[in-house]
Amino acid sequence: MHTTPSPSTAPVSSPPASDDQIGTGRAAKYAGLWDRLAEGYSAKPIADPAAYERKLAITKARLRPNDVLLDVGCGTGSLALELAPLVARVDAVDLSKEMVRIANGKAAAAGVDNVTFHHASAEGLSVFGQGRFDVITAYNILHLVDDVDATLAKLYGLLAAGGTFIASTPCLREGWVPYGPIITVMRWLGKAPPVTTLRRAEVLAAIGDAGFVDVRDEPVTDNRAVLFSVARKPTK
Ligand SMILES: C[S@@+](CC[C@H](N)C(=O)[O-])C[C@H]1O[C@@H](n2cnc3c(N)ncnc32)[C@H](O)[C@@H]1O
Repeated sequence: MHTTPSPSTAPVSSPPASDDQIGTGRAAKYAGLWDRLAEGYSAKPIADPAAYERKLAITKARLRPNDVLLDVGCGTGSLALELAPLVARVDAVDLSKEMVRIANGKAAAAGVDNVTFHHASAEGLSVFGQGRFDVITAYNILHLVDDVDATLAKLYGLLAAGGTFIASTPCLREGWVPYGPIITVMRWLGKAPPVTTLRRAEVLAAIGDAGFVDVRDEPVTDNRAVLFSVARKPTK
C-alpha cells in the first residue's frame, strides 16, 4: 500500500503525543463541559445498535494486523478498544481529560496494552508525525471541531499514502428534526457544546476537497442525519 516510508514500520514505541494538546480555539473552551458529560456518556446505551454494528463491520473490514490507527474524539474509548485487537497499535485522542481517564480505566480492565489515550483535540494533533497512521477513525466528531476543512486537511496529512479515513458524522441539517433550535436551547441550558449543523453533501465534498479519493457514502441506517463515509488517501 505504501509508496513512501510508512509509520507502520516505525517501532511501536515511537514517541506519542504529549498530553494537553488541546489548542486554544472554540472547541477547547468546552473541554470542561465534556468532562462533566463523561460519566453519563460512558453509561449511555448506543442509540442505534444495528447501525453501530454495520459501522464496526465496515471499519473492521478495512483493518490489517500491521496497521497503526488514530481514533479522533475517542470519548471513553469504546471504538479504540474494540479495534485494538485487529491492528498493531492505536492512538486515541480526546479533548476531555475525564473521557481519557475513563478510557484508560476501561483499557486496564480489559487488559488491552496496544492503545494509548491522549488528552488532545482535533485542533492540537501537530505532535504526531506526518504520514504516521494507516487508518484514521473519526466517529461523531467532525460536527464538533472548530473548522471541518482544517481538520480534514490535518487528518489527511497524518495519514500514510494509501491510508483509510473512516468517519461517522452527524449531519443535523438533514431530515425533519429541528436540531438547530434544539441545540440552541441545550446550549442555553449549558448542556451542549457548539455544533456545526452539516449537510451530507457538504461533508462528502469537503472530504474530497481535502484530497481523499474513493469517497464512499456507506449505507448504515435510514436516518439521513447519520453519514458514514470511507475514503482513501491516494497512494501517490
Ligand atoms: C459525541 S462524542 C463521540 C465519542 C466517540 N467517538 C463515539 O462515537 O462514541 C464526542 C467526543 O469528542 C470529544 N471532543 C469534542 N470536541 C473535540 C475536539 N475538538 N477534538 C477532540 N475531541 C473532541 C468529546 O470530549 C467527546 O468525547
